[in-house]
Amino acid sequence: MTVAGNGKAGKRVYVETYGCQMNVYDSRAIEQLMADDGYEQVNRPDQADVMLLNTCAVRDNAETRVLGRIGQLQSHKRDREVILGIVGCMAQRLGDQLAAQKKAVDLVVGTDNYRQIPGMIAQARAGAPVQVQTQADGVTTYDVAPERDPLNNSHFISITRGCDYRCTFCVVPATRGILRAKDPRQVVREAEQVARSGGVEVTLLGQNVTAYRHPDASFAQLLTDVANVSGIRRVRFLTSHPTDFPTETLQAIADNVEVCPWLHMPVQSGSDRVLRRMKRGYRRAAYMELVHQARRMLPDVTFSTDMIVGFPGETEDDFEQTLDLMREVEFDSAFTFKYSPRPQTPADRLEDDVSEEAKGERLQRLLRVQDEVWQKKSQSLLGARCEVAIEAEDHKGLGYMKGRTRNNRKVLVPRSEKLNTGDEVLVRLTGVQATTFYAEPVGMLWKYEHVGG
Ligand code: SAH
Ligand code: F3S
Repeated sequence: MTVAGNGKAGKRVYVETYGCQMNVYDSRAIEQLMADDGYEQVNRPDQADVMLLNTCAVRDNAETRVLGRIGQLQSHKRDREVILGIVGCMAQRLGDQLAAQKKAVDLVVGTDNYRQIPGMIAQARAGAPVQVQTQADGVTTYDVAPERDPLNNSHFISITRGCDYRCTFCVVPATRGILRAKDPRQVVREAEQVARSGGVEVTLLGQNVTAYRHPDASFAQLLTDVANVSGIRRVRFLTSHPTDFPTETLQAIADNVEVCPWLHMPVQSGSDRVLRRMKRGYRRAAYMELVHQARRMLPDVTFSTDMIVGFPGETEDDFEQTLDLMREVEFDSAFTFKYSPRPQTPADRLEDDVSEEAKGERLQRLLRVQDEVWQKKSQSLLGARCEVAIEAEDHKGLGYMKGRTRNNRKVLVPRSEKLNTGDEVLVRLTGVQATTFYAEPVGMLWKYEHVGG
């Protein structure tokens, strides 16, 4: 039998992550809290004394997957003493209900309660029955020391948690609570740590980063401060809300070469009628005006988006307006979803009146239009030059190095002795397959050197 505090045997934790980048960041924060309590991280549930699932609640199928996974993982409890904890958005949403439904679960921990996890585990080991902690405090944020990562080009820094919007389809305000901003000095400290540990790129994260506001910094100021951290060469951020995009923010992107001109800006629908029912807070024309303004101020800007099809009351005409908007904006990429009614959301009171079949058909048409748009656009880019940062030296063992342009396009360049991860190279685009370009190097822009300590 393994007991807490009884050497390494009882202190191995396995964390499995579902959902968005915020959850990826949170899982790192949880691993760090566990490490501070003497836990070693393992990559397989069969090696673990504690298994934690960091869950997503945004669509029904995200929750169904986790319920299935609990079923699989509980088999580990047959022959060993192992704690199973469900944390994150689904834990927050379901709380006691989840504990009652799944008897194998020992802990249910909501999004503001991760600091309690080590203590709850100790209690469970001392024989406590199932524990549920889902008290939302509206203030908690978590910090992650990036030194834990080896060099890569996408160190995440969470800058906001929660969301003050009430989009009628969205469970996030219920699971992550109200908007709170991390102190700008802490954000800058995390970026400095990234740079010290050899990282060159950070991605600022939040459900709604552009709504960042703190008594000591606006989002534009924060972008500028992070861009000015010595050693940081690229700053990305997501997700942007179209309503929180003042000219000042676009100006900060224009003024700081480190801030990458790529906006992930969910539009959800091209129909004003649907946008109103979603309570998104903008009309189609305002979204388009922002796209045009961004293109005027940031010549290389690219956009990606999220779209929902089959929202209650969406007609064929509404949907065609969405297709039309896709053609008009020419997004680089789009995450597309069938509307999934979520308990605790305002839209759940509306009748889910678009049939599953119609949702499926609209989704296929949406994907086809996006495909056409991208085919045309990507072909027109062949021959162009762009700056690529190398992110991986061997892409699937096929003789290519993988990199990204400043505006977030994926590019493969032939492997070369002269190139290493972190280098930036000027390339000419020579071909394209799906969303990945092939390119030939035409000049070296910047040679990566690990200057950190
Ligand atoms: N601002 C957040 C949005 C979170 S949810 C962010 O960080 O991205 C991500 C996307 O999931 C949303 O933009 C929306 O397109 C989709 N989504 C959210 N709730 C949904 C629902 N009930 N049904 C279908 N898709 C949904
Ligand atoms: Fe959800 Fe809308 Fe906020 S999509 S995360 S309520 S901006």
